[in-house]
Amino acid sequence: MVVPQLRAMAWGTAGGRAFGENGGMAQRAQRAHLGGDELEVFARGLPKAEVHVHLEGCIPPRVAAEAAKRHGATSPVTLEDGHPKIETLRELLDYLDWSCGLVDRAEDLAEIGRSTSQRLAASGALYGDVIVNPTHWPHWRERRGAMVDALAAGFTAGEREGGARIGLCVSLKRQQSERDALAVVSWLIEERPERVVALSIDGDESAGSHSGRFREAFGLARRAGLHRCAHAGESSGPDGVREAIELLGAERIDHGVRVVEDPALVRELAERRVPLDVCPTSNVVLGVVPSFGSHPIDRLRQAGVRVSLNTDDPELYGIDLAGEYVRAAATFGWGVEDLGALARTSIESSFADEPRRQAMLESLDGYLEGWQAG
Ligand code: HPA
Ligand code: ZN
Repeated sequence: MVVPQLRAMAWGTAGGRAFGENGGMAQRAQRAHLGGDELEVFARGLPKAEVHVHLEGCIPPRVAAEAAKRHGATSPVTLEDGHPKIETLRELLDYLDWSCGLVDRAEDLAEIGRSTSQRLAASGALYGDVIVNPTHWPHWRERRGAMVDALAAGFTAGEREGGARIGLCVSLKRQQSERDALAVVSWLIEERPERVVALSIDGDESAGSHSGRFREAFGLARRAGLHRCAHAGESSGPDGVREAIELLGAERIDHGVRVVEDPALVRELAERRVPLDVCPTSNVVLGVVPSFGSHPIDRLRQAGVRVSLNTDDPELYGIDLAGEYVRAAATFGWGVEDLGALARTSIESSFADEPRRQAMLESLDGYLEGWQAG
């Protein structure tokens, strides 16, 4: 098991090296900065959750390549080591339609589920809220129940092997009709698949994506006890974020980074403690922000907004969650306290049930104490 081993390394050696000879408790202040291997070890072992990751972006290149071969299909975009070269949200969504459209076997869905649970654990995640949008999976459109069952079997297998616990956020598509959206929610309410924790909405938030059309669907989900999250402030501006909160009753905003265009809304999010599920590398790749260094995540934190770090579509970008913590820490000069706070927000804002959330917070506290004790 990767995680405990790394954790033992972190506690056993890195703490001492981090804070130097005369580093008493005071100097081992939580603000301590990390670098190199030590940062990598700390970030990978840090107990955390991932709350913004799409199943569609978690198809292992091997599974995609084999399915493409079976169907005699070729990728619509260039592949580099199995990862597609994508530069815009439109290209991403088209690629997802293509790759998910190849998956017609329950065993492949189970493998995607299993490897997703494992991938999260390899980054120190104990839990993941995984978004799945049925519109990307044409072979399963009329068999949503069978799709969720196959995924659940994969998640269970992954968890048994030490993987992260997974909750599913079933997603509507921004361009969907109200009728189609209500059909998905009615199914969720009637069937109540055990793995499903939330209703979500993703896709292109620009033209024709108005939240008013999805208000009733989200209201039904809330009344049925499902959590709610919404993509907003990625391909929409601050108004999209406001609508997601006010019309859809979203508890968390996926991305949300374009709120920086509206300082009053930034203050409001901080006051209302609305968490943003931020994915910096995804934002850079898709051109939402020009570079990692200019990403607003640091400014949002300084303004008191609760943010978590996430990967969005790890297999498309060739990234993992721990790597995002490392990259962000190295870019913004974040130390132990900062990364600990991000991990805490990821856990607190997750849709894991309360006992699991408490257990994860205890793991996090234990890890941070162990690290500081050196
Ligand atoms: N934004 C919107 N929809 C998506 C994304 C994203 O980043 N990834 C997969 N579907
Ligand atoms: Zn997303």
